[in-house]
Amino acid sequence: MEVYNHDLIILGTGLAGLRAALEATQQSKGELDIALVSKLQLMRAHSVAAEGGTAAVMRQDKGDSFELHAWDTVKGSDFLADQDVVDFFVHEMPKEILHLDHWGIPWSRTEDGHIAQRPFGGHSYPRAVFASDKTGFLEMQTLYDTLMKHTKKINRYDEGFVTSIIIENGRFAGLTMIDMINGRYVLIRGKALIIATGGAGQIFGFTTYSETVTGDGLAMSYRAGLALKDMEFVQFHPTGLIPSGILMTEACRGEGGYLLNNKGERFMGTYAPSKWELAPRDMVSRSEMTEIEAGRGFPGPGGLDYLHLDLRHLGREQILERLPLIREVTIKHIGLDPIEKPIPIRAVAHYSMGGVHTDIKGHTPVENIWAAGEVSCVSLHGANRLGSNSTAECLVWGRVTGEEAARYCKNATAAESPVESAQAEWSRIEALIKSTGTEDHYQIRAELRRTLDVNMGVFRTGEQMQAGLDKIRELKERYKRINLKDKSLRYNTDMERAIETGFMIDVAEVATLGALTRTESRGGHARRDFQVRDDENWLKHTMANFTPAGPKLDYIPVDISMWKPVERKY
Ligand code: FUM
Repeated sequence: MEVYNHDLIILGTGLAGLRAALEATQQSKGELDIALVSKLQLMRAHSVAAEGGTAAVMRQDKGDSFELHAWDTVKGSDFLADQDVVDFFVHEMPKEILHLDHWGIPWSRTEDGHIAQRPFGGHSYPRAVFASDKTGFLEMQTLYDTLMKHTKKINRYDEGFVTSIIIENGRFAGLTMIDMINGRYVLIRGKALIIATGGAGQIFGFTTYSETVTGDGLAMSYRAGLALKDMEFVQFHPTGLIPSGILMTEACRGEGGYLLNNKGERFMGTYAPSKWELAPRDMVSRSEMTEIEAGRGFPGPGGLDYLHLDLRHLGREQILERLPLIREVTIKHIGLDPIEKPIPIRAVAHYSMGGVHTDIKGHTPVENIWAAGEVSCVSLHGANRLGSNSTAECLVWGRVTGEEAARYCKNATAAESPVESAQAEWSRIEALIKSTGTEDHYQIRAELRRTLDVNMGVFRTGEQMQAGLDKIRELKERYKRINLKDKSLRYNTDMERAIETGFMIDVAEVATLGALTRTESRGGHARRDFQVRDDENWLKHTMANFTPAGPKLDYIPVDISMWKPVERKY
């Protein structure tokens, strides 16, 4: 086992991780020794797939305001967002847009040269700043380029597959990592850790997320003793392309696109008469499923019945200028040009509102660990996130955690080297590689994803979720008997997939147990057997803690210091 030492370790190189690295570098005037660790090559983080925009109040002169952005976010969250966090967020966000502007991002512009903004669901002002429909990619590229100016003190571990986070005596002590390129097992020690590994979209079969989004950071944090908060709240995006699930950005509707049923009707007027297609995602997704269940969808492959996203009336010029990626993707993947034909879509698993519990600064209860971006739950999104608030969250809490962790590192020393824990982890991995069990881990993964699709979808019942939980626990048992075909160390993706599947099972168990226990409907958690929001009993955050027997649930209060919960109508 090799041991590497750094000051600050940033695990994950998406928007939150890169923003944190940049801030920490600048704060420390380049003095901090930073490690950037990712199982991917740097620009392959899933953030590059973010399309439609990043929310910020840029035009108070035109009627937008911090209060309005905060209210939209709180109402969108079905009142489960912490309102002090939301207030902090909306005030921070415009600065992030300007930082990126100064670092050279090609924001789309209005004719008079202002940074352009477009409408997004649940926002009562066109608030999403964008760069065509490649916003995430261009944000990533801008951060990457800017960071590269500071390469001297940044140590990159690309394709470094981290298997565990070690916390000893109440402090972060190190990460265990397999360097995929040469198969070496490594302990990386640091004074502080920022976890920025993204979500867990792959626990679902039909998802917008790339193959790599397997909940690693969530599961490792949970196993190491950090609580996962509000994991039952999963966002279904209304427009996933049939049959792959690729994101058809909400900007399609922000630009004026329609949702149509098989009668050619714009059905959203029935469900959200003031917002139509630009209602919040939880509502649009439920409306779509209701239409499909009522027989007003189109029959699709593998049970993926669908509706239409119609852009034709926008015209060629607007589609080419504002939605070029959408056109490219539909042409390449299904041979359909949206200038000429409506796009087949349906609700698709897209985002995890829950994550590693942190305070308003992204600080976990462990003194030298922070979390930022989708992996974290700073409680900005509550039960339903508004579109364009997630890339925004990555930027704000990337900056905040980078700053906080850098400051901490100045006066801190690293915890004692956790050699024994790291050796125990290696024994576990070695046993896995040598395993000759009868179970196929790829089959377990496929069954897990199918289970979540069937039992933890847009609408849920207690019976379904119990069946889902039973199945997840069966898979957890079977997982103990898997075998690996590849017995080598170098670039052993068989091993990587197997370990990821173990992470996915833990995350799925936490989400499903949390959902089954929450006997109400709120935001993205819509139960047919408990159809209304129950503030008396459930205006609280779920906290899941690891025990060897399974997750132990607890609850903590929600900050409602600005607005009392009211009925949510659009
Ligand atoms: O539809 C989209 O472009 C997605 C944005 C988001 O999830 O915030």
